[in-house]
Amino acid sequence: MNGRKVNRRAVLGIGGAALVAAGLGWSIFEPKRPGKLLRSRAPLPKPFEARLVVPPVLQGDQIVQREAELRILPGLTTRAWTYNGSFPGPTVVSRSGRPAAVTHRNQLSEATVVHLHGGHTPAAADGYPIDYLLPETATTMAHHGDMPMGDVAKGSRTYTYPMAQRAATLWYHDHRMGFTGPAVYRGLAGFHLVRDDEEDALPLPRGERELPLMITDRAFEEDGSFRYPEGDDEYMNGVLGDVVLVNGLPWPVHEVDPARYRLRLLNASNARRYRLELDPQPPGGRAFVQIGSDGGLLEKPVRHDTLEVAPAERFDVVVDFGRYRPGTRVRLVDRDGGDVMRFDVTGGGRGDDSGVPDRLSAGAGPLPPAVRTRTFRFNRAANGMWRINDLEYRPGRALARPRLGEVERWRFVTDFHHPIHLHLNHFQVVSRNAAEPGPYDSGWKDTVDLRASEAVEIAVRFTDYTGTFMLHCHNLEHEDMAMMADFTVE
Ligand code: C2O
Ligand code: CU
Repeated sequence: MNGRKVNRRAVLGIGGAALVAAGLGWSIFEPKRPGKLLRSRAPLPKPFEARLVVPPVLQGDQIVQREAELRILPGLTTRAWTYNGSFPGPTVVSRSGRPAAVTHRNQLSEATVVHLHGGHTPAAADGYPIDYLLPETATTMAHHGDMPMGDVAKGSRTYTYPMAQRAATLWYHDHRMGFTGPAVYRGLAGFHLVRDDEEDALPLPRGERELPLMITDRAFEEDGSFRYPEGDDEYMNGVLGDVVLVNGLPWPVHEVDPARYRLRLLNASNARRYRLELDPQPPGGRAFVQIGSDGGLLEKPVRHDTLEVAPAERFDVVVDFGRYRPGTRVRLVDRDGGDVMRFDVTGGGRGDDSGVPDRLSAGAGPLPPAVRTRTFRFNRAANGMWRINDLEYRPGRALARPRLGEVERWRFVTDFHHPIHLHLNHFQVVSRNAAEPGPYDSGWKDTVDLRASEAVEIAVRFTDYTGTFMLHCHNLEHEDMAMMADFTVE
């Protein structure tokens, strides 16, 4: 690897010499798929040797961000950045309508920022990328000298979430300006589940038959540590690892009863998108019964053979392993990559009284007509930086100023693949390439998958909180390389 080194801060144009990467001629060799494979230097583990682990549920309301030695590869340890010592971090479980406060303490050596992805959250608790939480050991409030600073705290910060939102699979992760990719890659990500009465009233699989599954890809150094090509501009298009982790373990295996399971799938990878299938398919196919998306329950279930999951998207699906003969080993595979994990169907277990009703949720119907339409173009500059409407991210420069309570139509167009994420409110996809939304666009979304040359329109109503929020690409290398924008709700 002899990639030119790029100083992120310089490239972001904040102090120092800007445009270090100018004139590299990106378009000539730009692949149509995002990301570049980074190979491990450690021997690869064998698939299906690790047992799936479900992340612990957070007890109390404190999360300590600290380094920890994780056991991911056989015979090696991985020094990671963690929430409470585990990767994924502890799962926060909240009740809709009941405010939740989570206090983060930073015992790492660098500043962090916590964002609740999918949270309907006031700006002050949203994890704006320069609202730094400095390490406990920091001696001053200054951070990196030349970086702009927002609301800075030292040692600890309490994020208060009103939780005035429906049941959904949310997740929290680091969101620090220019360094989200490496921070998440090193381990700063966890689930945050919201529950409510509407969902509890459904006979969905629960308890041991409800599995949050965080899918990530990583590469490893010889000593077992995470390998991340920090500052290497060959990876500005996204980092792809050669090991797939589910809940932090490589290609794990999980024994399941011949019964229905609820799988809350989250793609927390920096840049990799997955085309997930079960292999073998159950007789008759349609293995995945989708019951929810980023923003919670769908009105009606949607059945899929394949799930295309872009970074940050969640698919809440029910799989009935009772459709397989006991003894079947069912692999969850990525049609574009390889194995993800395996489910081994046993012969026993208690019976199955779960089910997926044809009507899941009252839904909200379509939003009222939009009062205005805005267009956002996602593209790449000649210097390799990623931009929105030809602008590299700059804190404090809002590309849109929607009014509180109003519905807007936002049009996203691109010449490349980008998963586009909006903070504050969930949205509905209203069209894809001037036609109907696609098979993975159902329900309330906070991240929409945009492929090369596509145009997607969403409808969104800005509710409850004024202030500044983010619109950005969730390919974390694109995000760090400036494909981000502020919008300010007034
Ligand atoms: Cu999951 Cu603004 O991020
Ligand atoms: Cu992107």
